[in-house]
Amino acid sequence: MAESPQKKRHTELKRLIHHHNELYHTHDKPEISDYEYDRLFQELLDLEAKYDHLDLTDSPSKRVGGEAISAFQKVAHRKPMLSLANSYSTDDILEFDQRVKKFLRKDAPVEYFAELKLDGLSMELIYENGKLVRALTRGDGTVGEDVTHNVKTIKSIPLKLKSKNPPDLLEVRGEVLIFKKDFIKMNEAYEEQGEDTFANPRNAAAGTVRQLDPKIAASRPLKFFAYALGEYQGISFDTQKEITEVFSQFGLPTLEEELTVKSDEPDEIVNYYKKIEKLRPKLEFDIDGIVIKVNSLPLQDDLGLVARSPRWATAAKFKPEQAQTVIENIVIQVGRTGALTPVAIMNPVKVGGVTITHATLHNQDEIDRKDVRIGDTVFVQRAGDVIPEVVAVNHDKRPKSAKPFKIPLECPSCGEKAHRGEEDAVLRCENPVCKSKIKESVKHFVSRRAMNMEKVGDRLIEIFIDQHLIEGFSGLYKLKKEQLLNLERQGEKSVDNILKSIEASRKTTLARFIYALGIRFVGEQTAKLLADHYVTIENFMKTSQEELETIPEIGPKVSASILESLKNKSFQKEVAKLSEMLEFEKSSRSTEGPLSGKSFLVTGTLPVKRDEAHEVIEKNGGKLLSGVSSKLNYLIVGDDPGSKVDKAQSLDVKIISWDDLLKML
Ligand code: IVH
Repeated sequence: MAESPQKKRHTELKRLIHHHNELYHTHDKPEISDYEYDRLFQELLDLEAKYDHLDLTDSPSKRVGGEAISAFQKVAHRKPMLSLANSYSTDDILEFDQRVKKFLRKDAPVEYFAELKLDGLSMELIYENGKLVRALTRGDGTVGEDVTHNVKTIKSIPLKLKSKNPPDLLEVRGEVLIFKKDFIKMNEAYEEQGEDTFANPRNAAAGTVRQLDPKIAASRPLKFFAYALGEYQGISFDTQKEITEVFSQFGLPTLEEELTVKSDEPDEIVNYYKKIEKLRPKLEFDIDGIVIKVNSLPLQDDLGLVARSPRWATAAKFKPEQAQTVIENIVIQVGRTGALTPVAIMNPVKVGGVTITHATLHNQDEIDRKDVRIGDTVFVQRAGDVIPEVVAVNHDKRPKSAKPFKIPLECPSCGEKAHRGEEDAVLRCENPVCKSKIKESVKHFVSRRAMNMEKVGDRLIEIFIDQHLIEGFSGLYKLKKEQLLNLERQGEKSVDNILKSIEASRKTTLARFIYALGIRFVGEQTAKLLADHYVTIENFMKTSQEELETIPEIGPKVSASILESLKNKSFQKEVAKLSEMLEFEKSSRSTEGPLSGKSFLVTGTLPVKRDEAHEVIEKNGGKLLSGVSSKLNYLIVGDDPGSKVDKAQSLDVKIISWDDLLKML
């Protein structure tokens, strides 16, 4: 018997949704927007409601989505973590109110509590007798993954509830996320280190929580907001609003009250939706809508749930702000590390108040997946409200002549064949004297956080190299006034300023210099560590694999990259030239001493001044850290210490007194 068209479509939808579920939940790499996903899901639900000959046994409508991945211990939730029915229009808010009243057989108004729908990763924190004992991801809704080791590194999450008389059990549900400004900073740092960047804050947060090594989570700016209850014992609640108030008293981060609303007037909820949609670009973090909950917990119980979502709550989402524009060209940029990045040049278009003219297409796989071609009309949006992104092609508008785009296998700058490493997503130009690579390296060398030559801009560097005034970093310090005066549009005054800013950069720190050299994977933080460890450039240049391995924060990938640079003859020559020209500030830190190789942090009031304590530690070869993490060896505790002690205990960091430290000397 022939398959009905509905059945065929149903099978296709099941396959598609399973596929996108896995991409989203298991691999943190969604390929379609939430909006597109929700449309597919709605189509599936509509089909299932209309036809009864469909096979529902493996339908995603029966589950929340996302298999728990295997690297973590799987733990069943005491109460399932549900998902929310959602919609994209204000009419649906009114319909939700109607449904609730009808189900409760109520004519009188029902009170709602509405708040932001945070666009992060849902998380369950389990507190037993006030102590954080476990953190679980949602997983498939029934079974989550134990990610306690990573969640404990989130500074705003209390390891102990603030309460003299904590409940026997409290399961706190909420969202782990990364603020927009932190996300941008973090991506910039990865970009500088030649590492892959994240598409948006949500992916970055989800990717971080799923790391096996808690050091990675500790180094990333994760935040948490609590908004719902799981199981609880030894405490009671009457309303949804009260839940957030009690959470807040316990020291758990919750959304500011101004960002929520309580009302029994559906129209007020609609107004709140409109207000938040306007506010959205100004918020510090990503949201994708609002969540409306019946405020009374007894009524929530009466309402219960259907399939995958509670009847007492719904999400009203915002449509992502998108626009359409034409791709005029795809150009290949050569980065400092030789990475060839395709960039779409587009007809300028406004999205969310900002004009977009170009967007990175990342790599060939990404171009193939979206099948983006020159001449295509595309939908663009700003990922995480910030980074321009090509979402999809409008196939109806594809010109007949448009051909699939292939990144050329040669470097567009020097013409040498580019290579793609085993673990690399991008092609790289490996020619050490490629002009574009040199230009980008010099731009990095002079940048603010590196050598900080304020008056030497990108344009000038391109001219210097195109006109053969310099070949590398050291050439900058040999530039003559006459050479610069010969350049177009350079007057006496601006030339003096340029030379002054080059001159001023000679006085620098070893950390800045190591960072400026642009060794792959050596960002600012790593450069500081290296400078702290080696103290002089000579020590650094003659280091060995064995010595690099003694620095706890330096992994095999970074260490291999450093060694590769150090054994390169022209790198050696350049560093030798530069070290003659530069003057490094003396480091107060000694690398030798009884505390060498150990890290310390002070908390509370010590018998000596804080500064003195720090000096003693550094003089004896110890290293100071800025926060409690698994990297910390010793927490030195004085009078009235704060929450650092709890955190240290939970991470098995040794806790000592100032006297204990003096004994170590
Ligand atoms: S309440 C029964 N409140 O949305 C659901 N969820 O689609 C109880 N979410 O997995 C959840 N912000 O990750 C609730 N203010 C908020 C939320 C919120 C975001 C997420 C949550 C959940 C998903 C449901």
